[in-house]
Amino acid sequence: MLLQIHGRFFLAAILCLVTLFFIFSLYDSRLGSSSRLAASDGIANKTLGFEKIFVINAPWRTDRKDAMSLMASFHDISFDWVDGIDPEQIKETAYPPGNHREVNQGARGCWRAHMNALREVITQNLSTALIFEDDIDWDIRLRTQLSSFARAARTLPSLIQQSSSHSPQHPPTSKAKPPNPTDLAQRSSIPLTSTPHSTPSPDPYGRDWDILYLGHCGASLPPPSPFHPTRITHTDDPTVPVPKHLRFRSGASQDAFATLYPPHTRLYHRTANSTLCLHAYAVTQRGARKLLYHFGMRDFSQGFDFAVSDYCGGDLRRRIGEREGEKPVCLTVQPPLVSQYWSESGGGGDITGTGGAGRMVGSRYVRWSARAGLGRRWSGVGDQWPDDE
Ligand SMILES: *[C@@H]1O[C@H](CO)[C@@H](O)[C@H](O)[C@H]1NC(C)=O
Ligand SMILES: *[C@@H]1O[C@H](CO)[C@@H](O)[C@H](O)[C@H]1NC(C)=O
Ligand SMILES: *[C@@H]1O[C@H](CO)[C@@H](O)[C@H](O)[C@H]1NC(C)=O
Repeated sequence: MLLQIHGRFFLAAILCLVTLFFIFSLYDSRLGSSSRLAASDGIANKTLGFEKIFVINAPWRTDRKDAMSLMASFHDISFDWVDGIDPEQIKETAYPPGNHREVNQGARGCWRAHMNALREVITQNLSTALIFEDDIDWDIRLRTQLSSFARAARTLPSLIQQSSSHSPQHPPTSKAKPPNPTDLAQRSSIPLTSTPHSTPSPDPYGRDWDILYLGHCGASLPPPSPFHPTRITHTDDPTVPVPKHLRFRSGASQDAFATLYPPHTRLYHRTANSTLCLHAYAVTQRGARKLLYHFGMRDFSQGFDFAVSDYCGGDLRRRIGEREGEKPVCLTVQPPLVSQYWSESGGGGDITGTGGAGRMVGSRYVRWSARAGLGRRWSGVGDQWPDDE
């Protein structure tokens, strides 16, 4: 009798455990895994492994402030606000040399807000900082993604250096058949799994870079370098949409990298001559100083996003005859981890001036949208870019 009762109790306990395990694993795979996986490598904290996060928000866009605050609270992220700037308030004399009159109003206000954010990084002597615009979206698995990105960011600077100390690349012999582009892309890359895994303290991302481009809308690829790979691939990343979805707006042509690598590959590399938009980027102290010096003091002739793209690509050096120092080390990821979100109210950047093209509700590149997820927080996670649609 006693044995029977114990037996039943035991059975019930087992059943209960199995159910609990099932519920937890379900929860884990849908929402929890990102923070848990990254817990060990410094990215789990409230500032995603950077010393601080700043969000640029124009005080009159309270709608965006609300959305960002909610997203941050659900993802256990904390940040400081940097006020967006009304371009009317900027005095003519405050612009650096250049042709600021030819730059549109929105881009001028945006420029000043970014300068103020960078100045904060410098005056607070932060070793690293992440800067967000306020109309963005990310995948709810952001921490897992950043953990891989950090691993790549720690390795890329030395890969790049090794490669450049060996340049020029072996010239192809005239008889050899030119390799096909996918083959060349493969041979220019090493897998993330072959890079060191251990996390240096205190900087999960390392510090041998100036700028990390986390949110862009399209990036050109560095030239192939099959003898000294300079790109890192992360294959079978379930957070990457299939190639047909990899375009920065509907109707745009497919991103160049999408067809060069197998589906669900994420790619990390130094930026090349063109990286569009600047929704999210990180700077080191060194990077912030370079940016504020060049674009706060020396040159203002285009929007800040274009300016940074050119600077990272080496164009500023060519244009104003820069002799002090090397091209900055700017690293990026494709597809980007952060994307602009187009909201029901029309979205559109009144700070960035990127509004209009390819209007839709949602965000490109982001599968399990944190922003769209606000409304369906309790009804499950939706995939913005399913494989089979
Ligand atoms: C998060 O980690 C980074 C890197 O170790 C550190 O600089 C930062 O202070 C941490 N943030 C918080 C809120 O503890
Ligand atoms: C800034 O921080 C670094 C360490 O990260 C320190 O060596 C340096 O003295 C600090 N500079 C100022 C002005 O506080
Ligand atoms: C970037 O460089 C590639 C060659 O590497 C060239 O085909 C392309 O036109 C360049 N794009 C820009 C915007 O300069």
